[in-house]
Amino acid sequence: MERTWWKEAVVYQIYPRSFNDSNGDGIGDLNGITEKMDYLKKLGIDVIWLSPVYESPNDDNGYDISNYRGIMKDFGTMEDFDRMLAAAHERGIRIVMDLVVNHTSDEHPWFVESRKSKDNPYRDYYIWREGKNGKEPNNWGSCFSGPAWEYDGQTDMYYLHLFSRKQPDLNWDNPKVRDEVFDMMDWWCQKGIDGFRMDVISLISKVPELPDGKVGKNGYGDYGPYVCNGPHVHEYLQEMNRRVLSRYDLLTVGECSGVTVEEAKKYASLDGKELNMVFQFEHMDLDGGETFKWNERKIKLTELKQVLTKWQTSLMGKAWNSLYWCNHDQPRMLSRLGNDSPQYREVSAKMLATCLHMMQGTPYVYQGEELGMTNVPFQTLEDFRDIESINAYHELVGQGVIDGDTMMRYLRYKSRDNARTPMQWNDSENAGFTEGTPWIMVNPNYKEINAEEELAREDSVFYYYQKLIRLRHENPVIVYGDYKLLLPEHEALYAYTRELDGETLLVICNFSSEEQKMDLPEEFSGKEGTVLISNYEDSRPEEHMTLRAYEAAVYRF
Ligand code: GLC
Ligand code: CA
Repeated sequence: MERTWWKEAVVYQIYPRSFNDSNGDGIGDLNGITEKMDYLKKLGIDVIWLSPVYESPNDDNGYDISNYRGIMKDFGTMEDFDRMLAAAHERGIRIVMDLVVNHTSDEHPWFVESRKSKDNPYRDYYIWREGKNGKEPNNWGSCFSGPAWEYDGQTDMYYLHLFSRKQPDLNWDNPKVRDEVFDMMDWWCQKGIDGFRMDVISLISKVPELPDGKVGKNGYGDYGPYVCNGPHVHEYLQEMNRRVLSRYDLLTVGECSGVTVEEAKKYASLDGKELNMVFQFEHMDLDGGETFKWNERKIKLTELKQVLTKWQTSLMGKAWNSLYWCNHDQPRMLSRLGNDSPQYREVSAKMLATCLHMMQGTPYVYQGEELGMTNVPFQTLEDFRDIESINAYHELVGQGVIDGDTMMRYLRYKSRDNARTPMQWNDSENAGFTEGTPWIMVNPNYKEINAEEELAREDSVFYYYQKLIRLRHENPVIVYGDYKLLLPEHEALYAYTRELDGETLLVICNFSSEEQKMDLPEEFSGKEGTVLISNYEDSRPEEHMTLRAYEAAVYRF
C-alpha cells in the first residue's frame, strides 16, 4: 500500500467553543487554541480538526454558517486565525477545517436573496417546493425534530432543511452552487489550510422526487433512503476532487451518515478520486432503537466487534478507514462503553484507547478524551444547550412517546452536550477554561480530572495517549498491517492481530470489570513476545493468561 502522511497521522478534534477562553467572555476562542498549541505538540498529534469557526448565528453552534470567508466574532478575527494557523505550522501541526456545505444558515446572503422571490437569481441555490394540500411537500422529519420543511409566506412555498429551520439545504444539482463552494474551498486552500472534514457530505444529493419516507415513532417520515449516498454524490465529489482537492496536499474526511462499506469504497477509494476517508456510523448506531438514539441500551461487544471487523477487513487494500470513539456529536465513550467510576475510569479509558488506536485507519482523538473526561451530571433541561437534545425532549415528551423523567435520563446518557462541556485544564474555578461564566456548565469532576494533574503524573491517561500516538509513528505495522479478529463470540474480550512483513501484534482488551481467561493463540505458542504497551504494569504474553478488569495489552511477536 502506498505510504502517505494522512494514513500515518493522528488527528485531534477541537470544539472551539469549549476548548479554551482567552478573553473571559465564557466562550472558547482562536487565541485560546493558540495558547494551548504546546500542549497539543506534547500530546504528539499531527493534525487539528477545527469544528466550524465561521460567521454564524449559532443556531447549531457554528454548523449554520452565514459567511464562509469570515470568522465568528465569538472566536476572534481572521488575524487571530492566521496566527493560530502559523503557530500550528511552526510546530509541524496541520489544520483541517470543517466544511459545512450541505446547508447554510438562513442568514447567509444566498438564502436571504433566495427567499425574496421565485425568480431571484439565488432561488435555485436551495430546495424549494410547493405544499401539498396546504401541508408540507412530503412527510420527512428533520434531524432536530419537527418537519424537514419550513413554510415561507413571501412566496407561498416550502424550503427543505434536514437539520434546523435555520439550516436550509443547498441545491447541489445547481452548478452555480458547486462553483461557489469550490471557489470558497480554493480560497481556504490558498490560505494554507491542510484539509477538510466534510459535514454530512453523504447527504448532498437528494432523489429528485423527494418521496415520502417510512414513518417513525415521532410521526415523521425517514428521509435516509432518499438523501444518504444519493444519485449524484460521487459525481459531485469527483468534481470537487478534480477542481480543488487534487491541486493541494490535503487530508479529507467525509462525515457520511448512512454509509455502507460498499459506498465507503467509492468515497474513500485508495485511487484518490474522491476523499481520503469517511466517518461511518455503524458502531455508533449499535445502541440506537425505536426512539432513535434516545435510550439507555448498552452496545453489545460481540456486535461491536462484528461491525468494526467488517470495516477493517472490507476496506483493507481498497479504501482507508477513520477510527473514532468520540466527537462533538457523541456522549463520552468512556461513560458509554467503558467505566467512569473512580475505580476503573483510567484503566478503562486506556483500554478503549488501545483497542481503537491499534486498528488500521487514521485515529481521531476528541478534546478531553486524552484526559479520560466523562459524561456530565446535567440536572435539568435548562443545563442543556444543544438544539438536538432540547428539541427532542419537547417533541418526544410532548407527544407522550417518552415520559419526562425517562427522557432526562436519556439526555444525560446520550446528549451531545456531554462532549461539549469545557475542557478541564486544571482544578481552579471553571477548570481553568475561562475567567468569566462558561456558556455551558463545567463538569464538576474537574477537581480530579484535569490536564494539569495528568501532566504531572507519569501513569496518566494523557501519557498513555501520548505513547499510543508515538507507537503509531514508529511502527508501520500499526498503520499498514493486516487485521484479523480472534474470539469473535467472546462477550468480554476484544482480541485481534495486526501483521506486516513478518511482524505480528497481538492486541487484547478486556471490556469488563471481571477477570477473563484467554489462552495464547497457537500461532504464537513457543514464540518470544514483548510488551509494546499495556495499562497494567505487569502484563505478559503467556500460554494461559488471566486478563484483569479492563486490562489491555499489545504484544509484539
Ligand atoms: C453534523 C455535525 C453536527 C451538526 C450537523 C448539522 O452531523 O457534526 O454537529 O449538528 O451535521 O450540520
Ligand atoms: Ca472568548
